[in-house]
Amino acid sequence: MLHILVLGAAAGGGFPQWNSNDAIARRARAGDPDARPRTQSSIAVSADGRNWALLNASPDLRQQIHERRQLQPAADAALRASPIAAVVLTNADVDHVAGLLNLRESQTFAVYGHTRVLDVLAHNSIFNVLNPDFVARRPMPVDTVLALSDGHGKTLGIRVRAFAVPGKVALWLEDKNAPDFGTAEGDTLGLEIMDEAGTSFFYIPACARMTPDLAARLQGTALVFFDGTLWRDDEMIQAGVGAKTGRRMGHMSCDGEDGSIAAFAALEVRRKIFIHINNTNPLFVANSPERTEAEAAGWQIADDGMEILL
Ligand code: MLT
Ligand code: MN
Repeated sequence: MLHILVLGAAAGGGFPQWNSNDAIARRARAGDPDARPRTQSSIAVSADGRNWALLNASPDLRQQIHERRQLQPAADAALRASPIAAVVLTNADVDHVAGLLNLRESQTFAVYGHTRVLDVLAHNSIFNVLNPDFVARRPMPVDTVLALSDGHGKTLGIRVRAFAVPGKVALWLEDKNAPDFGTAEGDTLGLEIMDEAGTSFFYIPACARMTPDLAARLQGTALVFFDGTLWRDDEMIQAGVGAKTGRRMGHMSCDGEDGSIAAFAALEVRRKIFIHINNTNPLFVANSPERTEAEAAGWQIADDGMEILL
């Protein structure tokens, strides 16, 4: 059995983003129940309901721990303790690695990531706040099933298979002079998470395109969390808040011919949930036409605190 806990549903910046002053940001700040705030994307997974692996560590992790009793030290635990046993990274985006900085203070756990991402951590000495005497950094090669274990090597009963999906190197690591901004395989991963009995689901918070390989992996699966960054590719330009398309950022949109709703319509997936949703995406607004359309196509919108037992 897998316990899944959504810690945050929003893309980088969260919802509302700190400097957003558009209508939905104002509604969120005013406490409108139809436009509730969301923290930045991350989920927690556990096989036993006690020891948890985080899939990405968002900059909002401190708040997420504060809000979710499952991630707080147990009443009978040591004076310094955490149920967070491992963190699995899908890329080096700020919204996925900056939360590691909350996990300082010589607590033992393990960080799993592709060597491309572990190299980024190694080259940025601020990540040395994760004391190497306590925090194991373990390479996660693609297309290999790994049994996750905590910092002491005790198995968590969770297995993960990482695989490359189309995407882009993290924005803050872009090389403007290199083809594709210096993107290489391993910069954007999808994860298949499994328990020991074979129950599994997918976590894919960034993906630029549906490929035949990805479609074959997802066909027939029980649950997928998928990149819901933008509703429309040019949404930020249309809204007058940015110059970039979703494509330029390495994300496929929900709507449109090449969008995820159309791509998944051809697949048998029992439960599909949008996550990593940008602050401009009308999916955040209950009863918006876009949200109604996504729900009619069988999609759910991730919410902070959502719990799933699989
Ligand atoms: C993304 O998902 O494209 C990045 O998180 C963007 C960013 O770093 O702001
Ligand atoms: Mn992101």
